[in-house]
Amino acid sequence: MLILNKTAGVFFKPSRRKIYAFLGSFHFHPGKLFLHKLVLGIETSCDDTAAAVVDEAGNVLGEAIHSQTEVHLKTGGIIPPVAQQLHRENIQRIVQEALSASEVSPSELSAIATTIKPGLALSLGVGLSFSLQLVDQFKKPFIPIHHMEAHALTIRLTNKVEFPFLVLLISGGHCLLALVRGVSDFLLLGKSLDIAPGDMLDKVARRLSLIKHPECSTMSGGKAIEHLAKQGNRLHFDFQPPMQRAKNCDFSFSGLQHVIDKMIMQKEKEEGIEQGQVLSSAADIAAAAQHTVACHIAKRTHRALLFCKQRGFLHQSNTVLVVSGGVASNLYIRKALEIVTNATQCTLLCPPPRLCTDNGVMIAWNGVERLRAGLGILHNTEGIRYEPKCPLGVDISKEVGEAAIKVPRLKMKI
Ligand code: KG4
Ligand code: ZN
Repeated sequence: MLILNKTAGVFFKPSRRKIYAFLGSFHFHPGKLFLHKLVLGIETSCDDTAAAVVDEAGNVLGEAIHSQTEVHLKTGGIIPPVAQQLHRENIQRIVQEALSASEVSPSELSAIATTIKPGLALSLGVGLSFSLQLVDQFKKPFIPIHHMEAHALTIRLTNKVEFPFLVLLISGGHCLLALVRGVSDFLLLGKSLDIAPGDMLDKVARRLSLIKHPECSTMSGGKAIEHLAKQGNRLHFDFQPPMQRAKNCDFSFSGLQHVIDKMIMQKEKEEGIEQGQVLSSAADIAAAAQHTVACHIAKRTHRALLFCKQRGFLHQSNTVLVVSGGVASNLYIRKALEIVTNATQCTLLCPPPRLCTDNGVMIAWNGVERLRAGLGILHNTEGIRYEPKCPLGVDISKEVGEAAIKVPRLKMKI
């Protein structure tokens, strides 16, 4: 058999090993032919059991997800052993569903990629041990995935985005700004010093008892706040954005949450209602809380863009800001960020909402990215452990603070 040697531009007779390797890059199906590597991604770092099969070109061949949101809404937050049990009950079915939808058999996979850090220990453990069984059974390479790296790279599946770019990750468990220089090459510019914005919005929603609001009873806290805020007037409350004097890119949300809590308590007294009932001013509080969170996030992101531009870290002509994570699906916060990117001549990109929240596609895609770059592909999984805490990249947040960049005031008319 003769195959084309592209570099030499001539025909040559390849070795038997090369022929098999070449044939191995095809995947045969009845009526289907894949020329790409196929990765199964598995995600269980928090409260979603998710899996997907993605090919090298970024085609999502099959995906499945089981969300625990409704259960955790009822208990007023995630109880780790409950999350673990639900992952255990669902992981086999979810992986099976993703594989069946893709019409790919495990033996056809090029690798299995699984979130092993950071996240809830008990949840990570379920995904990891299930994956290791699969890896062992089907003799596949294993690609351990950093959950935040996966969120950051998702945009390269949906859009043509080259490195470097700036990423803002805002979710229930994380809040960070990072410069993405390569598949596993990150500079951490800033992070939350306490809780994440999604966590804060969840707590405010809970304190406002939005689960009892007929329109919001099945929504996550952040989504409920966004929904209700549309009916409220943010000007009825004046919450100050946190850390206004700190000229760095770090975030803080717990102080703001306590201020809002106090205001809710005061309003309950004024309206003469018990904690657990929905205030008549709930929509106004939601609107003001959302606005303050949006301004805080926008200001820190603005400084990160200016810092990267000053240091020549980003393309001058094609500067890209990527926003992802569960809170990135909030359109009000996106608009605040749009004001920043318009003022700094940047392009704002967000993955579609279903890829902003936790999902299996982003894990599989991260596996593809690592497979293509030849990074972190394990053929021996001995000693592999999950890591509940794990920073992303090299932390240069101190240097960012020392640069003390003054951010021009922007009119946040949203
Ligand atoms: O990325 P994600 O699914 O899970 C992790 O935290 O990693 O994000 C979930 C978080 C929750 O805190 C939820 O309240 C928040 O994202 N969220 C929102 C919206 N939808 C989900 N926050 C604000 N606005 C939304 N529309
Ligand atoms: Zn996440």
